[in-house]
Amino acid sequence: MRTDTGQVINLADYRPTDFVLERVDLTFDLDPTETKVEARLIFHRREGADPKAPLVLDGDELSLSGLLFDQMEMPAEQYTATADSLAVYNLPAADPFELTISTIINPQANTQLMGLYRTGGIYCTQCEAEGFRRITYFPDRPDVLAPYTVNIIADKAANPLLLSNGNFLGGAGYGEGKHFAAWFDPHPKPSYLFALVAGDLGVIEDTFTTMSGREVALKIYVEHGKEPRAAYAMDALKRSMKWDEEAFGREYDLDIFMIVAVSDFNMGAMENKGLNIFNDKYVLADPETATDADYANIEAIIAHEYFHNWTGNRITCRDWFQLCLKEGLTVYRDHEFSSDQRSRPVKRIAEVRHLKSEQFPEDAGPLAHPVRPTKYREINNFYTTTVYEKGSEVTRMIATLLGKETFKKGMDVYFDRHDGQAVTIEDFVKCFEDASGRDLAQFSLWYHQAGTPLVTASGSYDATAKTFSLSLEQMVPATPGQTDKKPMHIPLSLALFGENGGKIEPASVEGAEYTGEVLHLIGRTQTAVLHGIGSRPVVSINRSFSAPINLHLDQSPADLALLARHETDHFARWQALTDLALPNLLKAARDAREGKAIACEQTSIDALLHAAADESLEPAFRAQALALPSESDISRELGSNNDPDAIHAGRQAVMKQIADRGIAIFTGLFEKMTTPGDFSPDAKSAGRRALRNAALTYLSYVENGPARAKAAFDAANNMTERLHALTVLAHRFPESGEAIAALSTFRDDFVENALVIDKWFSVQATIPGPSALDRVRRLMESPLFKRTNPNRVRALVGTFAFTNPTGFGRADGEGYRFLAREILDIDQRNPQLAARILTSMRSWRSLEPVRAGLARAALTEIEQAPALSTDVRDIVERTLK
Ligand code: PHE
Ligand code: ZN
Repeated sequence: MRTDTGQVINLADYRPTDFVLERVDLTFDLDPTETKVEARLIFHRREGADPKAPLVLDGDELSLSGLLFDQMEMPAEQYTATADSLAVYNLPAADPFELTISTIINPQANTQLMGLYRTGGIYCTQCEAEGFRRITYFPDRPDVLAPYTVNIIADKAANPLLLSNGNFLGGAGYGEGKHFAAWFDPHPKPSYLFALVAGDLGVIEDTFTTMSGREVALKIYVEHGKEPRAAYAMDALKRSMKWDEEAFGREYDLDIFMIVAVSDFNMGAMENKGLNIFNDKYVLADPETATDADYANIEAIIAHEYFHNWTGNRITCRDWFQLCLKEGLTVYRDHEFSSDQRSRPVKRIAEVRHLKSEQFPEDAGPLAHPVRPTKYREINNFYTTTVYEKGSEVTRMIATLLGKETFKKGMDVYFDRHDGQAVTIEDFVKCFEDASGRDLAQFSLWYHQAGTPLVTASGSYDATAKTFSLSLEQMVPATPGQTDKKPMHIPLSLALFGENGGKIEPASVEGAEYTGEVLHLIGRTQTAVLHGIGSRPVVSINRSFSAPINLHLDQSPADLALLARHETDHFARWQALTDLALPNLLKAARDAREGKAIACEQTSIDALLHAAADESLEPAFRAQALALPSESDISRELGSNNDPDAIHAGRQAVMKQIADRGIAIFTGLFEKMTTPGDFSPDAKSAGRRALRNAALTYLSYVENGPARAKAAFDAANNMTERLHALTVLAHRFPESGEAIAALSTFRDDFVENALVIDKWFSVQATIPGPSALDRVRRLMESPLFKRTNPNRVRALVGTFAFTNPTGFGRADGEGYRFLAREILDIDQRNPQLAARILTSMRSWRSLEPVRAGLARAALTEIEQAPALSTDVRDIVERTLK
């Protein structure tokens, strides 16, 4: 492991390289512990660069075993090589030259899973962001683009399959039981998009004919025997390829597109050119083992990586500060894809739930940073929900401000103007300014200012003037390193509704630009006057969540109930139901803290039950309506002095009151929303299952809870219902015979399937209350748990720390201490994984004082440990600051 050097990288220091890389020719002679890598690199000095400047290449834990200059041995005094750099002096002022660099690496010993490593008996690579430098010395930065030839030599019996980027050139025997294959990728690419896979895998194959009539071979490689479980991923891939042609006019550009599923992977998946590598969790699915959420994730991630071919690969980032250029945009594109394939409002609700539960806390805590940051210590720590999800929201706002057509024009300008380049956010935004004629300077603050803006709104109606005045005020909270914030350009989708639920169209609007139902808030304070309003309106603001803000607007339960029933935007209906439920949950948490009885306000329960029973609404929407804000949503709303036990107890009491009142509705839904006939993972069927599961949750609060849930568990013919019944049993009645029996049946049925066992781990890691920690500890001793596998660690340790506030946050601080020890242990093998899981501590300051003190002590224990990785040091220091 490389430990921290404390070095900070600044955007302001960016400058282009002194040398231009023309071509890359790599040869790998694969061996589990001694892989020989030969890199032939052709460079020339950039015009105008210092004629004396040395060429400095990046390395990480490398050792040089040979260096040739134009095929001749390089004299020792002409270079210096260390584990993390190779500097070469006295190079030609203008002529191209060739360096041949030899290194020997040990894939078997690579536990960081960056660079070339072994997983499940195969060789695979992960190079984003800075993994290529663990393979060979290289200008390992995204603005160095070149075409690559890759030759792979390996033992034939163990590695019948030899894959790399681009198109296959040919292969042959190589003597001594070895064979070789050559690949050529004609599209200039940065090193982070390099990939190599070798081993013995099964495959499913298909083809796709592009819009210009070219046939592309599609291959998905998985472990032998798992081929049938890749069928849904293939289907999702073909739909993604078609959609990108239709929605963005983007055609695929090689003869072959490959996906390889591996079982050890730090992230979800990786968009390497023509050879995507996936965490197998996001490829493998069948009805017996995958939930509807798994299917939806697979569809979204297959699409996401495929879409990167244009937004990320053909046009890439100039430097890693521009990460959101490819990630925010590509998340936006995969969201749009899923919205078109599924239900748009339901997808939007899920996106916003995710944004609020993951990104809003990041933006409100010590790890807050702008979508386009200006400094970092460890780039791995910037693959954040702010860069990805808020980055997507910023792209969405551009589309909202400009309108669909103009947004599309801007995207066309982007693709035409920058194809083949490594660019910046400024380049991206300029395309939309040029396409629209609009100045986006103020809007660009969304990239530069961290923190979730708070918009406070209040309306007043004047019956004689027939006007409705809406006063708006915005405030962007201070975040680390940014105290003074400027007002942002906030697009607020807005509509008015009359007492009868009909929409009221204003005759004109003064005081703010208002086009296409979008009101532009640009000042710190601003009052919009809407004319021609014949009766007192109910206002709906930030419909479809047009801007990622917190909105304060006092509305009566009656007005919210009206929106919940009559808003034409179903996202806004869900928002109204949430706004109705939230005060109950907040009050319940406070009352529980003070040991008071908990009583709910009834309008909100009635509105919820009305939506649940409304057959004109799609089941998936009704299920979302029934899913109350989570415990972490509640603690975020409370903001400070949080007691997880009180929040939990309060929420349980509210659930119970809803269940008592809605028992007839829930019984009906549970009986009716069955999965008829053959299983289908489509969104409509998934919606029925979601609603049935929601009903089962509430029914667990009335009579016969364990028996009913156990019956549902036994009868389930798909993983979505089975896992949900198991969760209800384990979370609500952990000591019951039913729960114990179901947990052991589930384990025995799926003992061979690690991805399902991960679900079994996660269900137990999230059992509320202080006993969860001992359970997690015991499960870590299980032979089914593997410390070296990121999915296992995330399923058990990660899920416990991120999503079990009462278990992880138990009052004696044992959960925090446990995490500290685990982080230090994981950090020895896999710093990226350790740092990621440590971010679960980011909201420690909002805990009540005793827990906050215990959390601080655990963080301090990590901070003071010797030999931390840069990844963990960076997170722990920022979290404590
Ligand atoms: N670029 C990948 C994606 O978003 C994520 C990733 C980052 C994977 C770093 C591996 C390492 O699709
Ligand atoms: Zn991505």
